[in-house]
Amino acid sequence: MSRPRSGRSTAELLADFGHELPAAPAASISTRDPRLFATVPAGGPRRPGRGWSAASVPVSQWRMTSDQAACLWPMIATPALPPTGAQLGIDELSGGCFYADPLGWVLDEAVPVTNPNVMSYGKPGGGKSADPKAFITAMFDFGYKALILGDVKDEYEPLCRSQGVEPFRVGPGLPARLNPLDLGPLGDGWASLSREEIGRRAALLFPRWLGLLRSLVASQHVGDQRVPFSPTDARVLETVLKQLTGYSNGQHTLQVTTIPAVWDALNNPTNDLIVECRYESVRQFLDETRLVRDALAQLCTGALAGMFDDYTTISVDWTAPIQSLSLSRLEALGDEATGIALACVSSWGRGMREVKESGDLRINIRDEVWKQMRLGLAAVQNLDADLRLSRRDGEVNWMIGHKPGDSAGAGNTGTAARAIASELLALADIKILHGQEARVADELQALIGFSPLVHDLITGWATQRPGRAVWCVGPRLYKVQTVLHPIVKALAFTNQALEGAA
Ligand SMILES: Nc1ncnc2c1ncn2[C@@H]1O[C@H](COP(=O)(O)OP(=O)(O)OP(=O)(O)O)[C@@H](O)[C@H]1O
Ligand SMILES: [Mg+2]
Repeated sequence: MSRPRSGRSTAELLADFGHELPAAPAASISTRDPRLFATVPAGGPRRPGRGWSAASVPVSQWRMTSDQAACLWPMIATPALPPTGAQLGIDELSGGCFYADPLGWVLDEAVPVTNPNVMSYGKPGGGKSADPKAFITAMFDFGYKALILGDVKDEYEPLCRSQGVEPFRVGPGLPARLNPLDLGPLGDGWASLSREEIGRRAALLFPRWLGLLRSLVASQHVGDQRVPFSPTDARVLETVLKQLTGYSNGQHTLQVTTIPAVWDALNNPTNDLIVECRYESVRQFLDETRLVRDALAQLCTGALAGMFDDYTTISVDWTAPIQSLSLSRLEALGDEATGIALACVSSWGRGMREVKESGDLRINIRDEVWKQMRLGLAAVQNLDADLRLSRRDGEVNWMIGHKPGDSAGAGNTGTAARAIASELLALADIKILHGQEARVADELQALIGFSPLVHDLITGWATQRPGRAVWCVGPRLYKVQTVLHPIVKALAFTNQALEGAA
């Protein structure tokens, strides 16, 4: 029996003052559907002979390394690189930072890289040149010094000036002269050297000069063909070089010589030269060296006259963080002239680096290297020799091109020059593949042998923004977006002309 209510409820009392309490919500109605199926435990109904298991016993076992396991878990990113060197951007597969440290990678046994050469390919405007600028800027802090071996667009000038260095300008009408036959530091103190040391230095100097002369001669054409350069020509030029420098006379100090002096010595051969090179007469000598003489004449009297045919007039401060040779003034003379200039600068640079102190870490940038490679097989071989020394010299050689086919010059398509350019690609253990057209990506795929996944990345993802590239560090692949610091971005800006047009 319920008790009678004594008094009024709170709601009634509040209503006297004009307040209404909200009504209590109606009791919720269950919306659950009636159960259609009876639940069964995960192990199946508990009855004899029933139930479920993932595999029949015994379970088969497989053993594999983490390398092989990648085929079962294909989305796992490549092992990360050590966080040393230049922090360049983001490794998009792992989401971590991407660091580039070519010399460090060579020294690290866990990274499958045996030489520190970098070859970067990509279509124009993809950020190929911005990468080394960001790299150099970061590596200055680790004591690296940079040498820009031919800045064909003068685009490294702001970077040089940011370090307080004024780049050298080479071009028609400018005062700077570079002698590709310079002795460099190897000529220092010749008089006080031991016989062994003289032999060692000569073994460095003469092949370097001969390599350059070979590539210069072979860059000239007879019709569609390159001027041939035979072992006899090599012997003649080597003898001339030894005579002009005074090496064959056992002189105490080596004399610096120039390309016009070599040309002159070939035009007016001495008796010693005729005898040493086993010619019967002056006439025979002149007849058989006509091609070489005429090819060298092109360099002394042609478009490049007055730039690489005299004694060097600039003095380079090798302790400066960066040195650069601006060559944009040569652009009007054509690709071949620029290529020849690059070959001369490259030889001159090698001479200057030959006796650098151990522990002196250098980065050599060869932007637009394809112009040099187009000079033909001999030029490619000369560059190839430089790359082979990079391990010994502790240098990072960073080369930039558009596509592998560029290295095959006119009349050379499919020939040995192209084959050596592929070899050159093989010599660089680190390859940076920026955005490309499908056709060029096919060519790269045939040369490097990467997977269709990489092909898709460089023809798609990498083309969508500058600074995107697939980095091949030995066999490992990294999908990298370079992130430029605002200061580096300002230094690496190369769209001034386009901006003006917009
Ligand atoms: N990672 C990046 N982030 C933002 N902008 C970038 C990046 N990399 C390059 N750029 C910009 O893109 C433009 C083109 O870059 P860059 O000159 O390096 O291209 P390139 O591939 O060397 O071109 P080319 O083949 O004409 O020499 C520059 O103005 C540069 O500032
Ligand atoms: Mg560039």
